[in-house]
Amino acid sequence: LPEIAYVNGEFLPLDRAVVHVEDRGFQFGDAVYEVVRTYSGKPFAVEEHLARLLRSMEAIELEHDLTVDGLKILVSEAVRRARFPEAVVYLQITRGHAPRHRGFPSPCKPTVVLTVRELMPLSSELRENGIAVITLPDNRWARCDIKSVALLANVLAYHAAKNDGAHDAIFLEADGAVTEATAGNVFVLTGGRLRTPPKSPKILAGVTREKILETARTVGIDAAEGRVTKTDLLKAEEIFLTSTTAEVVPVVSVDRQPVGDGKPGPMAGRVYEQFVRMFAKA
Ligand SMILES: Cc1ncc(COP(=O)(O)O)c(C=O)c1O
Repeated sequence: LPEIAYVNGEFLPLDRAVVHVEDRGFQFGDAVYEVVRTYSGKPFAVEEHLARLLRSMEAIELEHDLTVDGLKILVSEAVRRARFPEAVVYLQITRGHAPRHRGFPSPCKPTVVLTVRELMPLSSELRENGIAVITLPDNRWARCDIKSVALLANVLAYHAAKNDGAHDAIFLEADGAVTEATAGNVFVLTGGRLRTPPKSPKILAGVTREKILETARTVGIDAAEGRVTKTDLLKAEEIFLTSTTAEVVPVVSVDRQPVGDGKPGPMAGRVYEQFVRMFAKA
């Protein structure tokens, strides 16, 4: 099956899709994005993702005439054309192309790019055995609530984790507060209570994070937003990361210290099973 793309109104094979070299997404990272996945071929939580995309565009004052309804049709059409059993749709909106200058172009004609690839589920090895993470100072900008394509700090942190023999990194503020991982939100179980850092400009308000809070509460787990620190990570009974494509990923060590007994705990499994039951079943 072909991987497909959509660029400014036209569907085409992914390897033929191009944008202008003076596109502001390319020149400045002046762009925002979303990642939507399917379950049973249907885009999951697409309204939440598209609402977040519109919020991101608003936050960067990107002029556009896009709507949730219009984008929903586009995402569905892309999934339909690609015909993968399960798909990942990447959607990026940039502030268009213009001679390179930091000032906003006026008028602005946004670039709309979408790609569809086959969803590769997280390997069962990682889901069953969990992952090692390292902690790193959060050196990103102060508006991580905006889903900006400018992910250099995340790219470098992920690389540092890999270099260190780990699988991901969790960012910490100077006072030890946990923000999030390089591409996912963090949940920590301490004293039987499940906590995830509160929504703020320092984290992306993950769609999966919200669904997991809902999932956990449905089965009577004490789950809430709350400050989480490095100390909490080191004494946690369990830790897991959440994201659209990886769903729920148990963390079994932090900076080489085992989490609990160093094996994925029952909470991550229980929450994941319930999540699948509530959201991922046909
Ligand atoms: C930095 C960051 N935080 C959190 C998330 C999780 O968000 P969602 O659950 O909406 O995929 C992502 C997703 O890629 C991310 O890049």
